Amino acid sequence: MRIAIIGAGYVGLTTAACLAELGHAVVCCDVDRERIADLSRGRLPYYEPSLAPLLRRGLESGALAFTVSTSACVAQAEAVLLAVGTPSAADGGVDLSQVERAARDLAPHLSPGAVVVIKSTVSVGTARRLRETIAEARRALDFSVASNPEFLREGSAVGDFMQPDRIVLGADDARSADVLRAIYRPLEQQGLPVFVTSCASAEMIKHAANAFLALKIGFINDVSDLCEKTGGDVLAVAEGIGLDRRIGRSFLQPGPGFGGSCFPKDTRAFAATGRRNGAHQPLVETLIARNEDRKLRLARRIVRQARLSRGARVAVLGLAFKAGTDDVRESAAVTIVAALQREGMRVHAHDPRAYDTARPLLPDVQIEETPYAAARGADALVILTEWDDYRSMDFARLAADMRGTTIFDFRNLLPPDTAARYGLTCIRLGRRPEMPAVEAPAQKRAAFPGRSAAAPGHG
Ligand code: UDX
Ligand code: UDX
Repeated sequence: MRIAIIGAGYVGLTTAACLAELGHAVVCCDVDRERIADLSRGRLPYYEPSLAPLLRRGLESGALAFTVSTSACVAQAEAVLLAVGTPSAADGGVDLSQVERAARDLAPHLSPGAVVVIKSTVSVGTARRLRETIAEARRALDFSVASNPEFLREGSAVGDFMQPDRIVLGADDARSADVLRAIYRPLEQQGLPVFVTSCASAEMIKHAANAFLALKIGFINDVSDLCEKTGGDVLAVAEGIGLDRRIGRSFLQPGPGFGGSCFPKDTRAFAATGRRNGAHQPLVETLIARNEDRKLRLARRIVRQARLSRGARVAVLGLAFKAGTDDVRESAAVTIVAALQREGMRVHAHDPRAYDTARPLLPDVQIEETPYAAARGADALVILTEWDDYRSMDFARLAADMRGTTIFDFRNLLPPDTAARYGLTCIRLGRRPEMPAVEAPAQKRAAFPGRSAAAPGHG
């Protein structure tokens, strides 16, 4: 099928490369000329594992092309996928201005019978609204608008696209349903579940799914705080409750607060939709406030617990909002570092990927090339992103390089008992310091051969 994709961001580009790999003829367009020039030469604008080979193959075979011209992109396309940004509006709702503008730009070039598919995360009713926008511009044109939300985690976006738990297709007419099904037929033929519903339901599914996953994280973070007061290890609790299939084990990793380009924005949008429509969502409202507060509380805790005074040096390991990406959008690390600086701390940071992306947001932070360089002379060390690089750090070297002895392991990566042998106090989330560490979940699973357990879904 001939497919146009508007927007070559995280979602648009992954979708374009994957659909080309599945055998479609894909043209992807973006207003960013430099990005399109780079992509046409096979260069990715951001770090995403497994995407580079798909991009190369698509360009080589001719199945994938890039342009800055909306008309060249859209002309002759049977389906036009919208993957432009949908940031937060002032009240937390979805700012649809990019989607609206893109729809007006593409309308003059649509072929008769084309289906415009909204991939961007939007509020309920956007498909209906876009139908009116396009119809105003092209009164005589026969076209459809459909909805196809994405569930791609950064860092595993290609795998999530090719092996999804489900594909959600929102269609209010038979043509939309047929075209959407044809796009995903190669995946449906592999037995992957396709769920067809109305556009409004598909739009709601996206926001409700992200709100629910964020609630799981918020819940385990609260349980983690409780464990620290009462005893019990949050990792054991997460494992113990997650083995109940009604709860599930994924998205129960405590951390410094969820971030990224989706959960914060989508929970705000979900809550704003509730407020605008008189169906308040107090669970999600509370979740948002607690997640914001958590980052500030953790920053205060670092200063208090390590007894840091103004001018102290803090090493921060991890700036990306999670491992596997160089994205720092709404990363907990950015908020925590800024709060530490307000307390007078001098921050030296490291991240294996997110250095160029973090620099503009953290101009007064010294970004180092290795975790050990960040740790040199540090009065305390804080881990904020769960990069594998930090799991196997050399404690002897850290102990020799650091001035202080406290490590705040806010992703629960390090073995505190080993750290203690080097004179380092490793403070993990959700465990009272004197409690013995629980076995890692992977080791525990091995104790029950024959019982299969879903892999933890933390991306
Ligand atoms: C996407 C979705 O759009 C968003 O709704 C969802 O919640 C998360 O994923 P993402 O791919 O991360 O967003 O956005 P971004 O990386 O900002 O990319 C959007 C791209 O669209 C940019 O490259 C921008 O230049 C381009 N764009 C924007 C256009 O080409 N035309 C426009 O009119 C507006
Ligand atoms: C999310 C959705 O998972 C995906 O389906 C799509 O809608 C886009 O948004 P993404 O933002 O890439 O994906 O990352 P995700 O893996 O969901 O993590 C989001 C945040 O939650 C990160 O800050 C992560 O560190 C945090 N998280 C996640 C936890 O703190 N604990 C967990 O158990 C899982």
